[in-house]
Amino acid sequence: MSRTVTIIDNATGKKIECPVLSGTNGPDVVDASAIYRELGMFALDPGFLSTASCRSSITFLDGEAGILRHRGYPIEQLAEHSNYLEVCYLLLYGTLPTSNQMTDFQNQIRERSVVHEHLLRFYSGYLYDAHPMSIMVGVTGALSSYYHEALDINDPDDRDLTARRVIAKMPILAANCYKHSMGHPFAYAWPELGYMENFLKMMFTRPHLPYETIPLACKALEKLLILHADHEQNASTSTVRLAGSAEANPFACISAGCVTLWGRAHGGANEAVVRMLNDIQHPRHIPKFIERAKNKSDPFRLMGFGHRVYKNYDPRAAIIRKACHELLNELQGINQPLLDIAMRLEEIALQDEYFVERKLYPNVDFYSGIILQALGIPTSMFTVIFALGRSAGWIAHWLEMVADPDFRIGRPRQLYIGSEKRSYVPIEQRDGPARKKRS
Ligand code: ACO
Repeated sequence: MSRTVTIIDNATGKKIECPVLSGTNGPDVVDASAIYRELGMFALDPGFLSTASCRSSITFLDGEAGILRHRGYPIEQLAEHSNYLEVCYLLLYGTLPTSNQMTDFQNQIRERSVVHEHLLRFYSGYLYDAHPMSIMVGVTGALSSYYHEALDINDPDDRDLTARRVIAKMPILAANCYKHSMGHPFAYAWPELGYMENFLKMMFTRPHLPYETIPLACKALEKLLILHADHEQNASTSTVRLAGSAEANPFACISAGCVTLWGRAHGGANEAVVRMLNDIQHPRHIPKFIERAKNKSDPFRLMGFGHRVYKNYDPRAAIIRKACHELLNELQGINQPLLDIAMRLEEIALQDEYFVERKLYPNVDFYSGIILQALGIPTSMFTVIFALGRSAGWIAHWLEMVADPDFRIGRPRQLYIGSEKRSYVPIEQRDGPARKKRS
């Protein structure tokens, strides 16, 4: 007999049986779609603490056990052995590519690694010191104007082309945010270079100076982007899905993803971590900041700590912590006071009852900012790098959603707590009796 969950309305005695669905891994899910149909009620779940918003076969994560897998492959193996472009392929198509498939994919990405020259003029509408994420929101959205009329989201080939375009164009858009802020000429891709080398060269090359690829930097960034490539139904991915469910232009959906990612409770945290570590200045000031984080009347939180899903340890943080040590050890002459503060902060917080009780562990953003800083990437660009990595996940989820036979517009409901019905009062009658003027 198939398993169900019974919901009984105590007031009316009416009861319904909700089917229980099992996925490949993870908790079973109650199909709650009958609640409104049968009982005339909605389910309330602020922050989606108990709500699965869709079926997906892209990423599995278990927050209690600290597990993250893409298409079944553990993140630790992908970070160790794969490269970002291969992970993009895996997220989009569900399998690791053969060498021919990979070559073809690389060629297609290379072929599309250019943006319309007019799009580069969008940047000049922004002040040189505009936050790069505000520029990313604009320029990713602007891509929609180049690919709208001819794009049919019901055509699988068009969808596939869209995904490849996103992967090809994101590094160009991201690197040019930096170029704009520096007042450097815009960067164009080099066809002979790999994805990561290309991105770093676009970021840091200058017309009058020689540029040399630093393999260590490529390797570190590669790992960082793999760790950020997808993370199940997080806030920005859910935003992309919701916007996409209205059949919005997919590039505009990517822009919506950037908007959400920019928030400091989400992708903006890596930037906030480095600012916090700079504010701490010295390990001896850490206890003061820990006390502030615990004080409920102080809005300060330890940035890079805590996660909605991971209540054990963020597996990405473990990988990135190790990568951070390796990078800083290998980079000659790098000053590492931030890493020292970060390690001491982690150590103190993990022994503190407040953090232990609430299962607050370092998340992926805790160490990623330190790596990016060591690579010479300015703090304001950190979330842009995150967006570059996550765009693979965003577009993979968009592809999956549009191809889903259950594809329909996402439309949450609410528990209305506003006014009862009342009648409109003309403005002259709303001020009460007029006062007599004194003579
Ligand atoms: N510092 C201090 N206290 C914290 C922190 C923190 N970083 N995070 C959570 N808490 C406390 C809360 O005050 C709350 O305490 P209470 O039970 O006494 O009220 C308890 O822990 C639970 O916190 P919630 O806010 O309910 O947890 P939620 O799952 O909603 O939020 C979030 C998760 C947003 C990540 C939160 O931990 C946070 O703000 N962290 C700092 C920002 C950050 O690092 N964001 C990056 C997330 S990872 C990513 O997006 C890639």
